[in-house]
Amino acid sequence: MPISDVSPVLKQALEEQMIGTPTVLHDDGTTSPPPMALFIDVNALKENFENCKKAFGDGFLHAMAIKANPVSRCIKMAVEAGIGIECASIAEVMHGLRCGCPEEHIVFDSPVKTRPEIDYALAHNVHLNIDNWQEMDVVAEAYNKVKDTTKAVIGVRVNPVVGSGSMAIFSTCTATSKFGVTILDDAVRERFIAKVSSTPCITCLHVHVGSMGCKLELMAEGVQKTVQLALDINKRAGFDQITVLDVGGGLPANVDTEETTPTFEEYVKALKDVVPEMFPGKGPFKRVITEFGQAFNCKSGWIASRVEYDKEVGDETHLPLIHAGADILMRTCYLADMPKHQKRLFVYGSNGDIKEDDVCLQDIGGPLCFSGDVVAKQRQLPRANRGDFVVLRDCGANSISIFSRHCSRLAPPVYGYVVVDGKAQLTIFKESERVDDILHFFGGESTWPRQS
Ligand SMILES: Cc1ncc(COP(=O)(O)O)c(C=O)c1O
Repeated sequence: MPISDVSPVLKQALEEQMIGTPTVLHDDGTTSPPPMALFIDVNALKENFENCKKAFGDGFLHAMAIKANPVSRCIKMAVEAGIGIECASIAEVMHGLRCGCPEEHIVFDSPVKTRPEIDYALAHNVHLNIDNWQEMDVVAEAYNKVKDTTKAVIGVRVNPVVGSGSMAIFSTCTATSKFGVTILDDAVRERFIAKVSSTPCITCLHVHVGSMGCKLELMAEGVQKTVQLALDINKRAGFDQITVLDVGGGLPANVDTEETTPTFEEYVKALKDVVPEMFPGKGPFKRVITEFGQAFNCKSGWIASRVEYDKEVGDETHLPLIHAGADILMRTCYLADMPKHQKRLFVYGSNGDIKEDDVCLQDIGGPLCFSGDVVAKQRQLPRANRGDFVVLRDCGANSISIFSRHCSRLAPPVYGYVVVDGKAQLTIFKESERVDDILHFFGGESTWPRQS
């Protein structure tokens, strides 16, 4: 999404009072206009779906990991584009179904599925990936009860132990990772082959090497080891038992420039170089699933917040205080020493024009009452004063989806937009949260009627 697109969108949002300087506090806790919002570039998101489909070709189901962005309108856009959804909880499964996602395009991946959740997934013909040895028995038992009626595909997640990449916290492929069946050595591998080949309901292997910090070569190596495991299971079974492969998500989204690197094409090339037999028609797999979260969403969203106050701290640091902090940008604040979680920031005047002059050293503070709530540290930026707007780029993934209740701040509205001939058209994708929503979360009394 070109940086030049932000200004017309911000100006239009200011004109329509979709963001701005709050003048009214309603009884439901919202303010008009809201001081902060998440903006989704509709065309950028759609383009990402199309680029992915084109790069991988036929025989793939691309299931968007909605933990990265569960905004209903975005899920519906995915569904319209023929993209499925990857779900980390039963609520995500139900959310996807309510958004109209076809059952066979839903992949359920939680590591702690309860028996009733498993039964629900089987009854709804949802693809289900088992996480561990015990779950294999639980699912096999549940499956046998409904095997004549369910169309659910059953997979098992494996950890091929290819190492952690550059961010251990987002790696899932070390020897001690909590995910999947860890194929630690030849003895475990043999036990796994014996178990799967004697559990006929399992027809898929699943691998997700990690999120962020994993190079394409590492991801391809994880897929290659999983494919080899599938081929060995099929050999043991004496027929093609494993006909579905799920290669997970994990394609990193860069946050340092406007360009997208790596691209879906580059990932496909890395996979073709290392493991060509994973592609439908080249090996036993009739269907291959991917589960991209950040690669679809990260670069298509940005957050804008009014600078509520600004002050000077230390010897020479300017400190604007904004409404986006560790609540919506949890990883940016809690992982402040990781460059890949830091955002590119731009400053706009109260009229929506970008500011380029008067550059100075700044920390950008958030709204929460703890000192780690700083979204950018020691940055050289045009001075952001009270009434200006700070725009944080590449916030379409893992922002609203991991919104924290700390300090009971209201989650902001989310807007979708397109820019046509330099003019922005905005749609409300999600309204601002209300105090009622927070009281509901904390078990309090929700009594206020919604204000119009
Ligand atoms: C099983 C699984 N699939 C897909 C994803 C999405 O990862 P990413 O957003 O890095 O593509 C995750 C992320 O945690 C995951 O755990």
